[in-house]
Amino acid sequence: MYKRVIDNSWDFHTADTKQYTHCYHAYPAMMIPQVARKLIKDYKPSGKCNLLFDPYMGSGTSLVEANIAGINAIGTDINPLARLIAASKVTHYNATDIERYISDIQLLNLTFNKELVKNKDFSRISNYSFWYSEDVLLKLSYLHQLIDTIPQEIRSFFYIVLSEIVRECSFTRNGEFKRFKMNSKQLEKFSPDVFMLFITKAERNLQGLKQFNCCNNNTFSTICDFNTVYSVPKDIIKPNSIDIIVTSPPYGDSRTTVAYGQYSRWANEWFRFENAKNLDNLLMGGMRQLNAKFTTNTINKELELIRTLDNKRYTEVIAFLNDYHDSIKNISPFVRKGGRVCYVVGNRNVKGVQIPLDYFTAETFEKYEFKHEQTIIRNIPNKRMPSKTSPTNKTGIKIDTMSNEYIVIMSKL
Ligand SMILES: C[S@@+](CC[C@H](N)C(=O)[O-])C[C@H]1O[C@@H](n2cnc3c(N)ncnc32)[C@H](O)[C@@H]1O
Repeated sequence: MYKRVIDNSWDFHTADTKQYTHCYHAYPAMMIPQVARKLIKDYKPSGKCNLLFDPYMGSGTSLVEANIAGINAIGTDINPLARLIAASKVTHYNATDIERYISDIQLLNLTFNKELVKNKDFSRISNYSFWYSEDVLLKLSYLHQLIDTIPQEIRSFFYIVLSEIVRECSFTRNGEFKRFKMNSKQLEKFSPDVFMLFITKAERNLQGLKQFNCCNNNTFSTICDFNTVYSVPKDIIKPNSIDIIVTSPPYGDSRTTVAYGQYSRWANEWFRFENAKNLDNLLMGGMRQLNAKFTTNTINKELELIRTLDNKRYTEVIAFLNDYHDSIKNISPFVRKGGRVCYVVGNRNVKGVQIPLDYFTAETFEKYEFKHEQTIIRNIPNKRMPSKTSPTNKTGIKIDTMSNEYIVIMSKL
């Protein structure tokens, strides 16, 4: 089987995970920057290392770290919010300009009155009066209006500040990725200061930007929206050109694991991004598939066991693994000979059966001209994901998720 080693030096218990632009915006199941940093440092392939690829970039942690390390990066994600955040995090905006626009917005906030709000049509946001107070909606709309007067090339810095508060100022329960409304007691006490939150976050992000600008070494990141489950566009990435992949893929479909679509729906609806309402169906494993398109020796026993316990859950797992397999198959030809692949994966439980996704990852890459080097087991003390998830998608029924993750390291033959 594929060798695993436990290594506590990857835990980063006390690390500051909010350095540089990593402080910009929360995102479900973010990778810890220190993990991406150490992977790039310890597993940079010998010879040239000009291009890092992340096929599930989320908020862009590995892209930021690549650029800081002097490596260009390409990342893709089919969640528009992820692309907005990642694009902003890798941009070296002029900090003085940003400072000036923060002050301008702060001043204009003082003169706010409802009559100044131009767009009072919130029909793009499903059930908006259930999720927001009228006052909050008007203030968010006013901020949006002010941002739209800022030069285009700077706006994304402010859009992601707005994006975070669009979610935080809604009646959604804190600390959950799914859309659950606060209870009546919480609602009574809830009165967010929209403008203050906006300015506080903008100032926090400005500090991160200043740190990031100190490491400006003329590298760049390209943010894409292609889906590697179907193909990798050759006009964006040339075959045999990727030196290193550093990524943390989902560990199952979004509906029964981490709800990226639900978490992002606030912002995706606010900004009228495509597929805001059905994103979870489009992410890996989102479409129903009945039969496995792959063969496996490493997780066969587990899959058979799940099938005997619950056929519906089996088909959900298969749908994810089919997509995951196709994605690896499509990505493989784009990694150069001697290039490294680092997949940070989670081994989730389905019906009490743990699926060793690290084995499946190594096995699948080996089918496509890779050699497994090692798998590092790390504790996840501060990965930002729920410690419990709903295995059945029914409110209230929860199980423990993993407290370890598996860093699978492979090299291209
Ligand atoms: C674990 S998160 C990545 C987190 C990221 N490493 C970070 O630090 O923010 C997995 C990401 O995979 C994305 N995803 C799921 N299916 C995808 C697909 N078929 N193609 C591209 N991205 C996908 C989700 O939208 C999510 O952002």
